[in-house]
Amino acid sequence: MTDSSPRFLSDYSPSDFNISHVNLTVTLDDKNTQVVSELLVTKANESLCDLVLNGEHVKLISITLENQALSAQQYEINDTHLTLPSSLFSKTQGEFKVVIVTEVNPEENTALEGLFKSGEAFCTQCEAEGFRRITYYLDRPDVMATFTTKVIANKVNYPYLLANGNKIDSGDLAEGMHFVTWYDPFPKPCYLFALVAGNFDLLTDSFTTSSGREVNLEIFVDQGNLHKAEHAMTSLKKSMAWDEQVYGLEYDLDIYMIVAVDFFNMGAMENKGLNVFNSKYVLADSDCATDSDYFNIEAVIAHEYFHNWTGNRVTCRDWFQLSLKEGLTVFRDQQFSADMHSSAVTRIQNVRLLRAQQFAEDAGPMAHPIRPTKVLEMNNFYTLTVYEKGAEVIRMLHTLIGAENFRKGMDLYFKRYDGMAVTCDDFIDAMSSASAKDLSQFKLWYSQFGTPQINVSEVYDTLTKTYQLTLSQQSPVTKSQLDPKALHIPIKLELLLPDSEGKMASKSHMLELTEQEQTFTFNDVTTKPITALLADFSAPVKLTFEQDEQSLYTIINHAQNSFCRWDAGQQLLISYIKRLTIDNDFVLPQALINSIDTLLTSKNEHAFIAEQLQLPSFDEVAGLIDKVSPQRLVEAIKKLSIFIAKGAQENLLRTYQYCQEQGRLGNNVGTRSLKNICLQYLSLLTTSQSLAQKQYDLANNGLVQNENMTDSLAALTCAAKINAESLTNQLSHFENKWQDTTLVMDKWFAINASVETETIFEHLDQLMEHPLFTLKNPNRARSLIGAFAMNNPKYFHCPTGRGYEFLAAQIAKLNTINPQVASRLITPLIQFKSFEASHQILMKEQLVKLHNLPELSNDLKEKLDAALAD
Ligand code: TRP
Ligand code: ZN
Repeated sequence: MTDSSPRFLSDYSPSDFNISHVNLTVTLDDKNTQVVSELLVTKANESLCDLVLNGEHVKLISITLENQALSAQQYEINDTHLTLPSSLFSKTQGEFKVVIVTEVNPEENTALEGLFKSGEAFCTQCEAEGFRRITYYLDRPDVMATFTTKVIANKVNYPYLLANGNKIDSGDLAEGMHFVTWYDPFPKPCYLFALVAGNFDLLTDSFTTSSGREVNLEIFVDQGNLHKAEHAMTSLKKSMAWDEQVYGLEYDLDIYMIVAVDFFNMGAMENKGLNVFNSKYVLADSDCATDSDYFNIEAVIAHEYFHNWTGNRVTCRDWFQLSLKEGLTVFRDQQFSADMHSSAVTRIQNVRLLRAQQFAEDAGPMAHPIRPTKVLEMNNFYTLTVYEKGAEVIRMLHTLIGAENFRKGMDLYFKRYDGMAVTCDDFIDAMSSASAKDLSQFKLWYSQFGTPQINVSEVYDTLTKTYQLTLSQQSPVTKSQLDPKALHIPIKLELLLPDSEGKMASKSHMLELTEQEQTFTFNDVTTKPITALLADFSAPVKLTFEQDEQSLYTIINHAQNSFCRWDAGQQLLISYIKRLTIDNDFVLPQALINSIDTLLTSKNEHAFIAEQLQLPSFDEVAGLIDKVSPQRLVEAIKKLSIFIAKGAQENLLRTYQYCQEQGRLGNNVGTRSLKNICLQYLSLLTTSQSLAQKQYDLANNGLVQNENMTDSLAALTCAAKINAESLTNQLSHFENKWQDTTLVMDKWFAINASVETETIFEHLDQLMEHPLFTLKNPNRARSLIGAFAMNNPKYFHCPTGRGYEFLAAQIAKLNTINPQVASRLITPLIQFKSFEASHQILMKEQLVKLHNLPELSNDLKEKLDAALAD
């Protein structure tokens, strides 16, 4: 059905045709939606070329060229393209008009790409290449046109008819139909096109821009959910104000709309003036959303809003440049979140995600540079690498040239490229011009993949009072990257030294590592310093630096940089977990307990202490140990947890109770996360096991001031981890209470999938039969299948291979229902390299089985080919 050969960055050539304006008329119907597309086309060069339009899963009804109907002999058509031969317009001068009439079937569209139904509503998803499932078009981001969209539908069922831009006309039609016409004056690629029709509740507000323009803000949600849109609206206004303050960027249309839908492949989509969101990133109230839901909603609202400049006003020349908009926009939303909340904690959470997931991707079979060079299915490249590592690359740039120059660079970028489709190189060139910094070596971050490994050694000379740090860097060498070059890497660090009174003092530095190996000398260093490297996580690298426990404890207690303090703790914990995986008799040191006790009694921000107490995840540690046994790793983490729980029990309990008390006095997110991490430890001990049950009961005792989803869910998560006796009752209580709230039931499915019990596979089978379970809703599919594969490592990696088999069986079904979702869920199966051989064999067995599926989608094929070639 779709093209099955890959495309290459090196093959880019500009379009032979431009489209200046698109006039769409869409008559909505569940099975037979008619699309009339009037294109104003011009030749982009002198040469005679065929006009080759993309189109998939669309039925062609008719074509006219300059008002002349074309007969079937005059054009060529196949599953993926409609070709109008050059002879047809060899004589046309200037602009010519092509009118194409097609039909599509939204009801059958379970891939959720193009025009589909989410419940009763119609909606679209065109990024990356979904517009071609609506009509024949030049579906590439460098073809930019203004759009007029007339939407026609039944008035009773679809009172709201939405599209991009400003509303210019509306009215009633015969037979209960009505129409609304929209005009978007900003030329855009078709991936930013959107159309929505439905019966919603509408939350309205307005925002006055700094230049005094009034913008209408509208959030559309399923009926009955109006109050759950308040937080999203507040987040939107904060985002608009922030972008004006920090980047001087204002919104440009008279209206900004957000629609929340339940059926959506990803988080949200930045369609011009009409964002479409997964309802998970819009709806929240204090009963049904957790603290992290609130945080994520604010971040995703901001992300999509920021795309209006970084993505829409300046867009990508081709899809290989995706990180141009995504890396930059993630960086911007991270900056925003850091400004709205604790910057230390926000940074730590970003780094955790990067280390646990992106590092694994960058070491796995689908590893690619943030600007990929070869793509079969574009949807496979909306990755942690393009997004999160892409954001790290922008952050390094910010570090290297400084905040002020970075802002100048952004200003220059918009001055040069507003209204254009450009490349990552164009962005770096703007930054380079504005800062007068040579960034040619820095550009290698866009073309090399893999997490660079940095080895560190140090020498202190007592006589000359000089301290030397030698850093060497190595990016992975593979068949597709035979000779990686040295990257330009900013290394921020602190030297910790006792001052004249014996108190620890610290001095910050930034090094620019540009060579394969480089030695940096610090003069007048009175004694051998303790070095805290990679302050703020200044580069997305792995460090090897042999520091003894004592030094790590010194950093934990004395470094200025909060990231360094946190990271030293993580390094220590990782070293203990590693030891435990190889040595059953390893005795964990009492010093760890002392340090945890100190932490628990410190005056630090609660949210920060919670981060310090959180162990590195299974995924993160798995990436650091060669050929690890997953079972041993699960056991090692558990052993360490129990050791901490036992040793620090008294302080954990005291902190838990204190936070519980504080919680009653006010709504504090950080205090709740500290309380709940204490609960995680305490519930591992028989003596305090019942705390989780008590907390659940308290959070569900019917008193409004106690109702709290963060606390309920934390309690259930703890109970699931130890498969507590009370769990079954709590889960059915929860199910009864929330059966009508889709997003909360997703949480219920996820908890069920993460229960550590030998009967998990029978349990999973039952869950798949649950009346509320469906593979057609991506959130639901992920909440069961994804949660099992990601949050239940003990049983996912069960030595019989049954976990892998379960995942593969679900992916096989999703292959035909929704290839994008199938392809995202396969991640834990293709990242087999870090595990011992027996597991690799079992995992590959499932991959081979999937590879043999009839009608294998390009999405899965690309990943399976890569994984099996590895
Ligand atoms: N551009 C979207 C973002 O903000 C990503 C996205 C949303 C997407 N839906 C999609 C990408 C569907 C591919 C397919 O990051
Ligand atoms: Zn984005």
